[in-house]
Amino acid sequence: MKQKGKLLLVGGLIISYFVSCEDNFDIPILSDSEIKQIITALPKNVVYPTNNLYSNEKDELGKMLYWDPILSGNKDVACVTCHHPQLGYADGLKFSQGVGGVGMGEARSGGSLTRRNAPTIINTAFTGIDISGNYNPLDAPMFWDSRASSLEDQAGGPPLSMEEMRGDAISEEHIIDIIIQRLELIPEYKTMFLQAYGDEEISEERIFKAIATYERGIIANNSRFDQYMNGDLTAMTDHEVQGMNAFIQVGCADCHSGPMFSDYKLHSIGVPDNVYPPDEGAGSYDFRTPTLRNLSITGPYMHNGIHATLEEVMQFYEDVGENDEGNDNINSNLNYSQLDPEIRDLQLDDEHFDAIIAFLKTLDDYSFDKTIPQKVPSGLPVGGNIK
Ligand code: HEC
Ligand code: HEC
Repeated sequence: MKQKGKLLLVGGLIISYFVSCEDNFDIPILSDSEIKQIITALPKNVVYPTNNLYSNEKDELGKMLYWDPILSGNKDVACVTCHHPQLGYADGLKFSQGVGGVGMGEARSGGSLTRRNAPTIINTAFTGIDISGNYNPLDAPMFWDSRASSLEDQAGGPPLSMEEMRGDAISEEHIIDIIIQRLELIPEYKTMFLQAYGDEEISEERIFKAIATYERGIIANNSRFDQYMNGDLTAMTDHEVQGMNAFIQVGCADCHSGPMFSDYKLHSIGVPDNVYPPDEGAGSYDFRTPTLRNLSITGPYMHNGIHATLEEVMQFYEDVGENDEGNDNINSNLNYSQLDPEIRDLQLDDEHFDAIIAFLKTLDDYSFDKTIPQKVPSGLPVGGNIK
């Protein structure tokens, strides 16, 4: 028999009682206070950085900039093109399509392909939060390889990227100046910058601070899991509670922990590579643990969108944990010994799939802001060429 409940023994926690499952597998059910040391609810409110505090005016400005294709070289792509509320603030695609694309979600075609799957914006305001609810929004790793360190920092990336927003008509060196010049010619933007910052100056820093402020308002912190953790024990079924216990005890929560279900660390977990040249992430196929909130609306999964369903993800973890050599579900450029120890220690069996997936769905919460502006100050199509 495999070693079970490793985490419990190491942590010296008390197993309250056992619920017997199919076959020979018993899932110990932890007490709620034990669970809350590993995974827990999100707080009600967002922490804003001291150098970029919330204001209504900045939020409104950020929303316009996020939805306005004026930030793209050919004025055809906005942030929302790949992070749309109707698609869970992602785009539903394996790889995003930026410049030159037309349409939205699976109907989108003709755009320059990015090499990675678009993560959701929902709850990125909480990235970095630990089990005690502490975090610094200026120390919040962004992108699959953690190469940006806050929402402000991240927002500077897409306008420079040729595939995402810039296109090839304007150089990386000039694009920001050109965007600023365009905004300066639009009186509505000048007024909005004045209201948000006290004077009409339009700068790179102010653009990205406003966008980050808007993004911090896109949250979903009242899932059934959050309700359960906040004391409503009717919010989850017994099956889902079993799934939560299995999730912790087979080892998922070794990385997917805290209120965001992430340790924000880079791990080599062996997801097969499907782009050429290979995408090694931060090196050695290291990618950052993503949040597991809102998975029902943010597929396909992994940095390269290789898994279309949660069942496929579970099958991957079972195969990789079992050192199933030669299995093409595992990255063949890596040896088993190069995989993260937590991955090699996974104790996942088929019989857990159902309950764990049921539990993951308790992390869905569709109460995030879905409002779509009627128009943007440039007068360009709202959201770019997405119709
Ligand atoms: C063409 C599609 C596309 C456009 C346009 C786009 N993004 Fe993204 N976004 C992506 C992809 C793909 C990634 C992941 C890239 C990576 O990890 O290297 C990403 C990553 C992010 C992340 C990181 C989330 C996380 O948890 O790590 C944020 C935040 C984000 N984008 C915000 C924006 C903003 C703000 C804009 C507009 C200024 C924007 N995006 C424009 C596709 C796009
Ligand atoms: C060693 C740390 C680690 C462990 C243990 C782990 N994961 Fe992950 N998980 C990651 C990383 C890193 C990624 C992203 C990998 C990539 O994209 O290449 C990921 C991706 C995912 C995704 C895709 C999310 C998305 O939005 O694309 C799901 C779902 C998931 N994990 C669920 C689980 C479950 C369920 C378990 C337990 C069976 C588990 N993970 C165990 C680190 C881990």
